[in-house]
Amino acid sequence: MSDFDATRKRLVSRFESALADYAARWSAWPEGLVAPVRHVLFGGGKRVRPLLALLAAEAVSDDAAPALPWAIAVEMIHTYSLAHDDLPAMDDDDERRGRPTCHIAYDEAHAILAGDALLTEAFLVLADGGWPAKTAVQLTRMLGIAAGGQGMVGGQILDIGGELTTMQALEHMQRLKTGALIRVAADGGAIAAGGSQTQVAAIRACGAALGLLFQITDDLLDRLQDPEEDGKNVLDLVDVQGALARRDEVARGAIDALTPLGERAAPLAALVHAVAHRDQ
Ligand code: IPE
Ligand code: IPE
Ligand code: MG
Repeated sequence: MSDFDATRKRLVSRFESALADYAARWSAWPEGLVAPVRHVLFGGGKRVRPLLALLAAEAVSDDAAPALPWAIAVEMIHTYSLAHDDLPAMDDDDERRGRPTCHIAYDEAHAILAGDALLTEAFLVLADGGWPAKTAVQLTRMLGIAAGGQGMVGGQILDIGGELTTMQALEHMQRLKTGALIRVAADGGAIAAGGSQTQVAAIRACGAALGLLFQITDDLLDRLQDPEEDGKNVLDLVDVQGALARRDEVARGAIDALTPLGERAAPLAALVHAVAHRDQ
């Protein structure tokens, strides 16, 4: 196993156990809500955003623990967005991660409410995160911006709106839809762990490029798996060669942004490489 694979395994398993502890609190919720929420939150996701948040924390501190609530909140927002994204009114997808989507396993009302519960819960996690009050407010604000109209939800609106005919317009949509949450995962992980301004700025720049990179590789994989897929996709504007060139350019930018962090950022650089060359 490579150093990076070992680090990934260690941090994802730390995240899974913190998330499972947190989810134990839901014994007070109606069972009819817990089941669809668990279906989306423990549905075999890759946990890229939590991993990124914890790697960012370890790039600035020896203790990633303060970034755990942050990683949980970000993953809750991500998984809520998927439950809603798959609904018939949106992408109308029956399968995700090789399993039935939430509205297929349950029904539309439960999928909508599971998403609502996760979105709300994310901010409760932040309120209970244990940081100094100023940091808690800062992180809450950052997540609200990244998840809402200036971020992910705004990007979803651009995605379902009119045609995007230039790379600039497409990448703007992608930076909001996918990039904002990935960027903030990194940024907030570094802040939660007490990173300096210089460290946080470097991680934020890396996260911004990584967010775009993630969507470029998602577009490549989507079309590879389903050539008829009709979402807005970089391959509508450039050929595969062009998309791969853009991918490599954005990946280089993400790695270059880490220079001020020195050796400590090696695992983050390895994550950038893994995302650029991912096959799922
Ligand atoms: C899928 O995200 C949706 C996008 C934002 C492109 P992921 O590929 O991170 O989804 P999971 O959580 O691993 O299934
Ligand atoms: C999903 O984007 C992005 C969000 C839920 C914010 P896509 O529709 O492109 O991703 P998949 O293909 O459903 O995973
Ligand atoms: Mg979709």
